[in-house]
Amino acid sequence: MEQARLVFPEGFVWGTATSAYQIEGAKDEDGKGESIWDRFAATPGKIADGMNGAVACDHYHLFESDFDLMKSLGLRAYRFSISWPRILPQGTGTVNAKGLAFYDRLVDAMLKRGIRPFVTLFHWDLPQALQDKGGWTNHAAAEAFARYTEIVTKKLGDRVKDWMTHNEPWVVAFVGHLFGDHAPGLKDLKTSLATAHGILLSHGMAVPVIRANAPGASVGIVHNLEWIEPASAREEDVAAAMRHDGMFNRWFLDPVFRGRYPGDMTAWFGADAPQVRSGEMEIISTPVDFLGVNYYTRRIMAHDPAGRGTTGRSVIAARQVRWPFTPRADFEEWEVAPEGLYRIIMRVAREYRPGFMYVTESGTSLPDAPGPDGAVRDPARQRYVARHAAAVHQAAADGADVRGYFLWSFMDNFEWGFGYTKRFGINHVDYGTQKRTLKDSGRWYSHVVRENSFPRADAESRD
Ligand code: FCB
Repeated sequence: MEQARLVFPEGFVWGTATSAYQIEGAKDEDGKGESIWDRFAATPGKIADGMNGAVACDHYHLFESDFDLMKSLGLRAYRFSISWPRILPQGTGTVNAKGLAFYDRLVDAMLKRGIRPFVTLFHWDLPQALQDKGGWTNHAAAEAFARYTEIVTKKLGDRVKDWMTHNEPWVVAFVGHLFGDHAPGLKDLKTSLATAHGILLSHGMAVPVIRANAPGASVGIVHNLEWIEPASAREEDVAAAMRHDGMFNRWFLDPVFRGRYPGDMTAWFGADAPQVRSGEMEIISTPVDFLGVNYYTRRIMAHDPAGRGTTGRSVIAARQVRWPFTPRADFEEWEVAPEGLYRIIMRVAREYRPGFMYVTESGTSLPDAPGPDGAVRDPARQRYVARHAAAVHQAAADGADVRGYFLWSFMDNFEWGFGYTKRFGINHVDYGTQKRTLKDSGRWYSHVVRENSFPRADAESRD
C-alpha cells in the first residue's frame, strides 16, 4: 500500500536560496566596488521595470531579523552568495576588509541560530573592473577568481563546510553574452563560449583552494539543467533536441565530469568553439563532491532552420514548441513539469555519477499580494513545491544520491532583467517598507522542513 506521507531520507537538507545582488542592496556601502549588474541595471532599457538592486531587500542591514524569521520557520540550511566586489572592489588588488567582515558577521549570525551556510562564490555579480579587461574571456579573471576564493575561504573556511564555486554558468555565458538580456549585455556566440570556458576553468582552479582552506568541506558547482524532449519523432526534431541538450546541459556537464566538451557541439560551433589550451580540461574536471541542480522547466524542441547564426536567441537551428502544457502563472516559456526534475536527476546520476546531488534551486513566481486580511495566499506555489519535492523523493527512492532541496527563494527579490516584477519568495516583500510577510506556502514549507515529510496528497493536486 502506498504511504500516505512522503517521508524523506534521514538527514535530508531542506533550505532556501538567494543571491547577493538580488537581496543585499547597500550598493556602494562599506567600500563595495561596482559589479557588472550595477552597471547593467543602471543602463536605461535593460530592466523590465527600470529598477535595480541598489536597495533590493536591504538584507545588508536586515540580515539579523531575516535570520530570526528563517529560524522561526525551522529552516536549518541556507544557500546564499558572496559579492566579489564587496571583497575586492576592483576584482583583484586590495582586499576590502569591511566587505569581508560583513560575511563574517553573516555566517556567525546564521550559525548562532543553527542555520547551516551553503555558500556560492559567484552568482553573476562580476566586478566591473574585470569586465573592462574582457571579463571571463580573459583568463586573468579565472586567476582573480582563484585569489578571491582564497581570501574568502581563508576567512570563512573554518565555519563554512558547504561550498559552490559557480551558479549557472549557462546563464552567464549565453543570457549575458549571446542573448544580451543579462549583464554585460553582449550578443556574440564566440564570446559566450569563451566566457563559459573561462568560468569552467576558474571553477577547476578554485576547487583545491577551497579544499585547502575549508578542511572536510563538500565542494560543488551549480548547473541549471532542463529536461528536453523532441517535438516529434522526426529525425530533424530529434537532432534539434539533441543540440539543445548539447548547448544547455552537456556543454556544462561534460567538461566538469568527463573532461571534454561534447564533440557533436564543438563540431556544430566550429570556429566559434573555445580555444582549449593543454592542461585546461584536466583542471576543469578536477573531481568535485557534489553537483547542485537548479531546475525550473522542461523544454520541447523542434527543428528550425531560421535559427542558426552567431548572435541572437537560437544558434542551434532549434526552437521551443509550446504544445499544450501546464502553463506557469508568470513565466510563459516555463512549463510546470516536475517529472522532468525526476528524469534529469536520474539521468545525471546514471550518466555523470557526480558524487551526490542537491537540488540547489526550485521554485516559481506568482503575482502575490497580501489580501485584505493581510494573508498572502499562494496555493499554486505550495503545489509546485510539493510536486517537485515529490519528484526528488522518487529519485532518492529509485537510488539517486540526492541529499537536499533548496527552495528559490527565501523572499521575493530582484529578478534580474525582470526587476521586481517576479515574486519567487515564500516571504512576500513590500519594497516600500521592507516588511516581510510569510506566504501560505512558507507556512506549509515550515511544516515540511520540521517533519521531513508531507502528505502525498499535497503533491497530487494539479493547477
Ligand atoms: C535562476 C537564478 C536565480 C533566480 C532564479 C529564478 O536562474 O539562479 O538567481 O533568478 O533563476
